[in-house]
Amino acid sequence: HHTTVGIIGGGPAGLLLARLLHNHGIDCVVLESRERDYVEQRQRAGILEQGTVDVLRSCGAGERLDREGLVHDGIELRWNRRSHRVDFPALTGGRRVWVYAQTEVVKDLIALQLAEGAPLLFGAHVHAVEGADTDRPVVRYRHEGREKTLSCDYVIGCDGFHGVTRSAFPEQARRTYERVYPFSWLGILADVAPSCEELIYAHSPRGFALHSMRSPEVSRLYLQVPNGTDPADWSDERIWDELEARFAVDGDWKLERGPVTSKAVLPMRSFVTEPMRWGRVLLAGDAAHIVPPTGAKGLNLAAADVIVLARALAHLEETGSTALLDAYSDTCLRRVWRAEHFSWFMTTTLHTDPAQSDFDTRLQISQLDRIAASPHAAAELAENYAGLEIG
Ligand code: FAD
Ligand code: DHB
Repeated sequence: HHTTVGIIGGGPAGLLLARLLHNHGIDCVVLESRERDYVEQRQRAGILEQGTVDVLRSCGAGERLDREGLVHDGIELRWNRRSHRVDFPALTGGRRVWVYAQTEVVKDLIALQLAEGAPLLFGAHVHAVEGADTDRPVVRYRHEGREKTLSCDYVIGCDGFHGVTRSAFPEQARRTYERVYPFSWLGILADVAPSCEELIYAHSPRGFALHSMRSPEVSRLYLQVPNGTDPADWSDERIWDELEARFAVDGDWKLERGPVTSKAVLPMRSFVTEPMRWGRVLLAGDAAHIVPPTGAKGLNLAAADVIVLARALAHLEETGSTALLDAYSDTCLRRVWRAEHFSWFMTTTLHTDPAQSDFDTRLQISQLDRIAASPHAAAELAENYAGLEIG
């Protein structure tokens, strides 16, 4: 079997790319190792940047997002029992963000793809990508108990951090950059109305906490915990007590409690592999880069990569020129490194490193005070959080 573009992985990157290619009339096949239910239920990101919303709308996947997504015009920062709101539209010339969960983006894209898109195979586990430096790279996968091959003009690895595509690049052609953080997040979903209208990012001597939401009835909260934490050690009561202590602020704010319906621990990592292209194999999304979640950038970076990639493949189809494909890696990496810096900045400014000194803590407080005092400092945060133009 042959296709123009073989897409490995049916997460947000692979599904959005398939949709964009479909709209350009370019044929493709998506191979996803998991089953549909699993992919649709996997709890992950919650914040969409303006540019991500724009692309979902323009490719026909914005209908439910426009009905159910929650528009947010800022975030609240808390430290030293005080709080400061960062107003995005005022500081960025009108940019804002949406709360609309990754699970919902994925459901919308899968439904469209199955209704009118290119083939999307679930339970199709890719184990090798061969011939990156030939004209016809080949994908080897297992589906319904049988070994299969797919030959492609181009192979796109959208198979996440643990995917196989990255290893199709020769070792000596690859450079990786990595940082592992000395803390994790305990993330919960709770059946209770959010205690805030906008997200709260809290610095506290007890560690970081984040209040987010999924809907007017469902809250999503995160707590910094030590690496290796077992969620079973955190009873609902312990979680709520700790959240309450970390969000504590002067004035009459109250954290509402409710039944916790899911608990999971997520490790935090920064990772970039360069280049993002080798011959006819290209990487997009988490397959090429990971950010710690504090800046809400992971899903948005994946979307930005595939926007650049779809444009490059359409340009090739229309003009025969590989100029945009040749520039793909450099174009994406500029944005990737900006997001790496911002995500590292948010993470290290708001979390308590178990090894940090009082000096380090005073620097964090000074930085947060600066954001509260200076529109320039606040605008730097707002522009990065709401998302830079896709170049
Ligand atoms: P993925 O979503 O990882 O999709 C990759 C797909 O490829 C998967 O469906 C996988 O099953 C499939 N696959 C893998 N290997 C193969 C193979 N060999 N053959 C076929 N298919 C394969 N970001 C935030 O901004 N905020 C958050 O709160 C947040 N929380 C997160 C929590 C967790 C536990 C994780 C892992 C990530 C989180 N992220 C968060 C990051 C965000 O979810 C990712 O950046 C985003 O999912 C990237 O999309 P992707 O399509 O590149 O990769
Ligand atoms: C969510 C996750 C994040 O990492 C973040 O920075 C903001 C919100 C969320 O899951 O809602």
